[in-house]
Amino acid sequence: MSFTPVKSVKTRINRSELFVPGSKPDLFEKASTSNADIICLDLEDAVAPQDKEAAKQNVIKALNNHDFGNKTISVRINGLDTHYCYRDVVDLMELGGERLDLIMIPKVGVPEDVYAIDMLVTQIEDKISRSKKIGFELIVETSMGITNLDKILTGSKRIESLHFGYADYAASVRMRTTNIGGSNEDYSILTDEKDGKRLTHWNDMWHYPISKMTTIGRAHGLRIIDGPFGDFSDPDGYRSHAKRTAILGCEGKWAIHPSQVDLANDIFTLPKVEVEKAKNIIEAMKKAQETGSGAATLNGKLIDAASIRQAEQIIEQTKLIETLSK
Ligand code: COA
Ligand code: MG
Repeated sequence: MSFTPVKSVKTRINRSELFVPGSKPDLFEKASTSNADIICLDLEDAVAPQDKEAAKQNVIKALNNHDFGNKTISVRINGLDTHYCYRDVVDLMELGGERLDLIMIPKVGVPEDVYAIDMLVTQIEDKISRSKKIGFELIVETSMGITNLDKILTGSKRIESLHFGYADYAASVRMRTTNIGGSNEDYSILTDEKDGKRLTHWNDMWHYPISKMTTIGRAHGLRIIDGPFGDFSDPDGYRSHAKRTAILGCEGKWAIHPSQVDLANDIFTLPKVEVEKAKNIIEAMKKAQETGSGAATLNGKLIDAASIRQAEQIIEQTKLIETLSK
């Protein structure tokens, strides 16, 4: 390990994050009674320009009056390139009361984007003597966001999590796809001929940005959350996608429809067999260490001190989910 430790910024359960357009207040109740860990009320791209003001008023009203239970509540504000942005922050903070936990900032590109929102939030928290400090969720969804990621994360101490925005990222880097998440047959390898056959292996075209986010984001102690999967009538596609990003280090995924919430909760709760495996590794390494050995075999495979660290993080994450989901 480096002499500089990485500390987790803030611990929250974030397996599923259900999005609800601020312009559809009728859906707030369904979201509140869902199993979502976090509800994100959206003022940005799910809201048409003519509905922006009404959506903001709906959200402010709900923050003051609606019973969201013990869920974490986030609001996605409009981007810094729009004139809605500053008023979203000012109105939410001044009129929204104490219920709001997180502000989600879309399309971050440079550290100053985050710094600017922090400046506004800090001034208002101070002015209204807000007791709960707002945290930030950042959406990484542009070529600038990915390029400047490490620097962006120095923009504010409020940053808790990174989220991947599929559609905007695809548009920003000119990927030839119109899917929100999902796969594409054109991103595949045609194998050489073997036994008279050539096979097409589909690949994961999102691997690079997701890996970059988990690697850099974790160095800053943040939660890394996978973004939307647009085809809400394809639970198998959602599962497959979520499993891949979970393997890469994400700890949750957006749900854009209530049917995706339980899928996310299920996949981002570690499977019992993995937890058992982790416990067995720790047990086997303990025995090996007692006999003065730094490495051992378990079921014919090498395990060593790094295996303990892998196993411990699986057990820790599971304990955390058990504690926080009660
Ligand atoms: N939150 C809470 N409830 C929701 C919901 C959501 N995001 N999306 C749908 N529902 C409710 C519907 O009102 C309906 O309730 P009912 O059975 O009581 O009538 C039920 O869940 C089933 O909905 P369904 O008819 O299958 O979907 P729909 O056609 O009403 O809505 C979408 C589909 C995609 C328009 C809607 O899910 C939505 O607005 N999602 C959020 C989009 C968003 O925020 N995008 C930004 C981030 S990418
Ligand atoms: Mg977006």
